[in-house]
Amino acid sequence: MIKNKTFLAGLALSALFAGQAAAADKLTLYCSAQEDWCQVMATGFEEATGIKVSMTRKSSGETFAQIKAEASNPKGDVWWGGTGDPHLQAAEEGLTEPYESGMRGELNGWAISQAESAGNKTIGIYSGALGYGYNEDILKANNLPVPACWKDLLKPEYKGHVQMANPNSSGTAYTTLATIVQLFGEDEGFEFMKGLHKNINQYTKSGSAPIKAAARGENTIGIVFMHDAVKQAVSGFPIKVVAPCEGTGYEIGSMSIIKDGRNPESAKKFYDWALSADVQSRALEVKAFQVPSNQGAKTSPKAPDLASIKLIDYDFKTYGSSDERKRLLKKWDDEVKSLPQ
Ligand code: F6P
Repeated sequence: MIKNKTFLAGLALSALFAGQAAAADKLTLYCSAQEDWCQVMATGFEEATGIKVSMTRKSSGETFAQIKAEASNPKGDVWWGGTGDPHLQAAEEGLTEPYESGMRGELNGWAISQAESAGNKTIGIYSGALGYGYNEDILKANNLPVPACWKDLLKPEYKGHVQMANPNSSGTAYTTLATIVQLFGEDEGFEFMKGLHKNINQYTKSGSAPIKAAARGENTIGIVFMHDAVKQAVSGFPIKVVAPCEGTGYEIGSMSIIKDGRNPESAKKFYDWALSADVQSRALEVKAFQVPSNQGAKTSPKAPDLASIKLIDYDFKTYGSSDERKRLLKKWDDEVKSLPQ
């Protein structure tokens, strides 16, 4: 009898350890870059480590909202990709964990600054400039002028020809809103957003959707990160890429470990792996032309050259702060989105 009890207890214990071992071999990845790049990251990590990855792709603002909603019972382990502002907001709101990877010595200064400004709760993995792209064939067919500046997009002849994402769900669109406010000042910036609203045919959920629609011939001008427009152009679509004449903002695409995630060891392994030069070079397999944060990662001559683009000194500290992001989004909802078109 006693022997049986010991045997049963042993069984229960080994079942418990088996459960722990299984848990250590999993990773739940929240991904906010493009779907095909997210897939490369998930399968690449599985192949490299044997750790089973469950990946979900959602836009930056949507992922932030999900992590916040799950805070009392976190389901994700790592949030990889997406614009830096909501990663900074997550850090400030205590939704992510500090971690200092041994890979930091290989990274560009801007990636480390991103980490340092958030108590090491996030880190830069790529960067890229905002702009827009247009479908040259549709522009010509409609006898429309070639746009070169932000303010060109306000011309009445572009009515129904411009698409951007909703800044609540999309990091690209939030970067657009924050860029316009920084370029023109808040009052003039909101007047710009109201004028632009008259020309918008649709606010999409995902940031890159407007240029994918333009590539398919379903939209004319898409406000997106320039690398997302280049991707469509090099894929053979009649897309031209514009760096707006007034200057433009940029993103520091980021990665964070979710606080109290279920697989912290797998999360750290993924984090270190994702910062390596070889892994960042794999972006080119899916025509992701962001600037990688690892100095040794490969870049493509087709990638937008940030040194030749007039970049503003984007204030990540202010526009990635929780109060400012909430305030700007509410103001955009109240004063822009609600207007008739
Ligand atoms: O992967 C493409 C990309 O434009 C990234 O550079 C960026 O961080 C992310 O998508 C933003 O996506 P969204 O606007 O949907 O949040």
